[in-house]
Amino acid sequence: MCGIVGVVGNTNATDILIQGLEKLEYRGYDSAGIFVLGGAENHLVKAVGRIAELSAKTAGVEGTTGIGHTRWATHGKPTEDNAHPHRSETERFVLVHNGVIENYLEIKEEYLAGHHFKGQTDTEIAVHLIGKFAEEDGLSVLEAFKKALHIIRGSYAFALIDSQDPEVIYVAKNKSPLLIGLGQGYNMVCSDAMAMIRETNQYMEIHDQELVIVKADSVEVQDYDGNSRERASYTAELDLSDIGKGTYPYYMLKEIDEQPTVMRKLIQAYTDEFGQVVVDPAIIKAVQDADRIYILAAGTSYHAGFASKKMLEELTDTPVELGISSEWGYGMPLLSKKPLFIFISQSGETADSRQVLVKANKMGIPSLTVTNVPGSTLSREANHTMLLHAGPEIAVASTKAYTAQIAALAFLAKAVGEANGNAKAQAFDLVHELSIVAQSIESTLSEKETIEAKVRDLLETTRNAFYIGRGQDYYVAMEASLKLKEISYIQCEGFAAGELKHGTIALIEEGTPVLALLSDPVLANHTRGNIQEVAARGAKVLTIAEENVAKDTDDIVLTTVHPYLSPISMVVPTQLVAYFATLHRGLDVDKPRNLAKSVTVE
Ligand code: M6R
Repeated sequence: MCGIVGVVGNTNATDILIQGLEKLEYRGYDSAGIFVLGGAENHLVKAVGRIAELSAKTAGVEGTTGIGHTRWATHGKPTEDNAHPHRSETERFVLVHNGVIENYLEIKEEYLAGHHFKGQTDTEIAVHLIGKFAEEDGLSVLEAFKKALHIIRGSYAFALIDSQDPEVIYVAKNKSPLLIGLGQGYNMVCSDAMAMIRETNQYMEIHDQELVIVKADSVEVQDYDGNSRERASYTAELDLSDIGKGTYPYYMLKEIDEQPTVMRKLIQAYTDEFGQVVVDPAIIKAVQDADRIYILAAGTSYHAGFASKKMLEELTDTPVELGISSEWGYGMPLLSKKPLFIFISQSGETADSRQVLVKANKMGIPSLTVTNVPGSTLSREANHTMLLHAGPEIAVASTKAYTAQIAALAFLAKAVGEANGNAKAQAFDLVHELSIVAQSIESTLSEKETIEAKVRDLLETTRNAFYIGRGQDYYVAMEASLKLKEISYIQCEGFAAGELKHGTIALIEEGTPVLALLSDPVLANHTRGNIQEVAARGAKVLTIAEENVAKDTDDIVLTTVHPYLSPISMVVPTQLVAYFATLHRGLDVDKPRNLAKSVTVE
């Protein structure tokens, strides 16, 4: 949430900042701003709305050094006054921030009497505090920053500029992501390597509670007491083409289309040259040692956990429990004697999941992170990592990460089951079955026009809708409804089909759209009974069925796949439903209101 960029020592500073912010726009897009110095004059430019609005105001903004920010509002509305960068009382110090300062009101009261604030943000308090220590108390910039960092509590990635010194950017982080990008004769700062990949593939990590002094020709990492820390650089495995939209109108459609390729990449990543499944033996042992697996996640990743539960339980002979990270962070239930925590997170940065991981680490609970982003916080701080190999996912609505999460967990389940001699695992030809899934997805993708036509009739104007299903289909219904509501703003519930009659069916009236998912031969007839019940009350029903349970009257029919993997293929038409519904309602598919891709606040 919120994206930060910075550059020191490059005459194209404005361009680098704006291009970087465009790449980070997925992290927040309600307002943005830059501060540029090192030219004829200093410039502070802010705009409410997208980066394009900011960019339009930057003609003539020139300099060698600057910082920029794209915001997802936490404290205060999206206005220019609340947009970053923020300045100190005398306007000498300029700061951008990602995160939440927990004690900002206490700081204001204790240290900043008589100061004047333009907006309502916690960030403005932080920069006033630094300014006070430097200008009123006479500390050096570095000492003032350090003193403030000792006082500030909460999550933050900061980039600070002294407007009298274009030679340096000071940065610090705690719980929020921040990287240093290493250029030729200049250096950069960014929330995500994607922002600066046009400039460099060489990056340096910053750990929590570290402060970095970034100059054009040097990068110095310190702890808050001034002790130097050694840090090697690394090469980011990112390609410019991975992060472009190509000829697609929206990232979401590109990412939906990439799913067959992602399935094949996962096969490559988790098999050897003989086609045998290969997972890190230490991860297999961690599962074998556990008497219960606890999956912690949020949103779509949480749904992927549900969709994988049965497969994990049956193949590893280990019970699986699901937890919503934001709930577990504050109240952990009674755990089994030998728990293993599996964190599922596309970004690897979700603050809710991280706070559970921090607690798990303190309790000595072993952990595995299943993530798309190598080197992400959840990956670094867990004992083990499995990667999704899905390539950058940029649309706020998660699609290919969900399907990759289930597939990655299938490799884990298969590997553990085989190691344990589990008969179902031995009989489960995952590589073959996943290839069928890839083909099934391809065939669904070739039906886009049909799906679009059906969606237009059903969802173009409705205010609400339901997805229903049983068993695995219920779990897919949960994900399908999240996808539809987050981008089309249609109020949608994913329901266990049999549960409707216990209350929710009261909401069905003439014309209410109900989308039914049918893949399980044992459960499909029961769901068909529930379809009759809602149709009798006026619902407009759209059915999505696998061939093995399909009838001629079904609207969308999918190739049958292995039951463990059916959530992967079943979810794809629902992703397209959400995409086309949003398109026909004239909304921005990739950047829905109020959301951000990477949720780095609790
Ligand atoms: O990066 P993570 O997988 O941890 O993110 C979790 C959720 O914030 C995320 O899945 C969210 O629900 C998406 N917007 C869903 O499309």
